[in-house]
Amino acid sequence: MIAQESSPSPAVAAVVVLAAGQGTRMRSATPKVLHTLGGRSLLGHVLAAAEPLSAGTTVVVVGSGRDQVEAHLADVAPGALAVVQEQQRGSGHAAEVALAAVPDLEGSVLVVNGDSPLLTSRTLAGLVAAHDAAGSVFTVLTAEVDDPTGLGRIVRDERGAPRAIVEERDATDEQRAIREVNAGVYVTDAATLRRVLARIGTSNAQGEQYLTDALAPLVDGGAPTAAVRADDPDDVLGCNDRRELAERRRTLNDRVLDDLMRSGVTVVDPQTTWVDVTCSVGADAVLEPGTQLRGTTTVAGGAVVGPDTTLVDCAVAEGASVVRSHCLGAAIGPEATVGPFSYLRPGTRLERGAKVGAFVETKNVQVGEGSKVPHLSYVGDATIGRAANVGAATVFVNYDGVAKHHTTIGDQVRIGSDTMLVAPVTVGDGAYTAAGSVITADVPPGAMAVARSPQRNVAGWVRRRRSGTPAAEAAEAAERRAEAPAGDRSDAPRTHTDT
Ligand code: UD1
Ligand code: CA
Repeated sequence: MIAQESSPSPAVAAVVVLAAGQGTRMRSATPKVLHTLGGRSLLGHVLAAAEPLSAGTTVVVVGSGRDQVEAHLADVAPGALAVVQEQQRGSGHAAEVALAAVPDLEGSVLVVNGDSPLLTSRTLAGLVAAHDAAGSVFTVLTAEVDDPTGLGRIVRDERGAPRAIVEERDATDEQRAIREVNAGVYVTDAATLRRVLARIGTSNAQGEQYLTDALAPLVDGGAPTAAVRADDPDDVLGCNDRRELAERRRTLNDRVLDDLMRSGVTVVDPQTTWVDVTCSVGADAVLEPGTQLRGTTTVAGGAVVGPDTTLVDCAVAEGASVVRSHCLGAAIGPEATVGPFSYLRPGTRLERGAKVGAFVETKNVQVGEGSKVPHLSYVGDATIGRAANVGAATVFVNYDGVAKHHTTIGDQVRIGSDTMLVAPVTVGDGAYTAAGSVITADVPPGAMAVARSPQRNVAGWVRRRRSGTPAAEAAEAAERRAEAPAGDRSDAPRTHTDT
């Protein structure tokens, strides 16, 4: 089953996603199809795979946790029609409910389980093409797997034609030995499926109406049917519990990293690097061990990310580096450097060559070209001009307990260490602030702002008030040295030539 990437996907009239099941085995308050891996929900992956089939209608059957599933659908597939299956009476019943909601629908329908996150558009397109080529009315996607436990088996006749799908609980020992399994993905003629579903009963181990039971009566009636093996057996793997969720997540991630490496990205340690399917990484970027790229994150060519870095919805430009940091919704400009140990929060924008260093948190701030916030600072709600330097332990005091206020720092500014910039405040181009200042008023361009109490030295305080302590002894020794005539400094430290 080969579908060329370049060939346009064959179309179907509708896609029906079965997503009403309880997902009991997940043991979760969250409906199964909303569990996530690789940046999408299970359901989101299925919808994304079906997207290129350009179905006029997409129906999603919801039931368990329907409010949550419907809200999610409104988010990821607002055009899809959610149809409620009040009681989960089986996959066949779910398909029947879906078709009843679109009574005028004719032509080919792709019916797919909502819990198969590894399905690819290529596999689905291949299935539709094979269905069309065979003139089939019911075509099931299958796979040869090493361990078929729990899955429906594909029973073929002596000529190799599909005969029936038998659920494991209802299978004979002989049937259980079959390693070709039902993927839970079908292309079928709408009218044919309506007709056959109306006749399917519930006499099976679970007392449910199985979609899989549609095949045998069609074969018996002489209708053209087909069973098509997927090229990659991983494609068809479902996800019923947390262990399978972890396995699918790993497989999906391996696929994403393989694609990246093929396209010229260095992934130093694929075992500890996790990239969502929704991210993109340019050629010659390097992902160091422990890197996680999530959401809409993009990393341009030549950038280095990691080790031990998480980027969520970030944009990293060419040649930038982000080391041991956690960044959300940040835009990191070309040649900019971040970390180690930086926390960039939404609205952070670093221009070319800007630097945010160790133990710095930023939020809603623009750091101009070549400007630096190297150490131990909080920078919130601010605009920083070009080539400015923000000294260690500076705080942009942006919150008065009720509202946030903005700080503007000009070009070539030098903010002294431990400055408090009490917003709203503006520091003009080329201005300085003295270390330890609390800046509450605007600083004109070129001025030095000093906002701290003058220093007072209380002479001899330690000798008087801390007499007998090592500090007092050190002070007294220093005083004796200062009083002794030059050349007679008996307690002066010796040098190595003085032996
Ligand atoms: C199903 C197939 C099995 C196949 C396997 C592939 C049936 C009877 N069996 O088994 O042959 O090998 O998928 O993963 O179909 N659903 C509803 N309403 C219901 C029941 C189920 O919408 O009343 C949905 C579920 O949300 C799920 C899908 O149908 O997305 C399949 O149901 P599930 O219980 O997961 O079936 P499996 O036991 O995995
Ligand atoms: Ca399943």
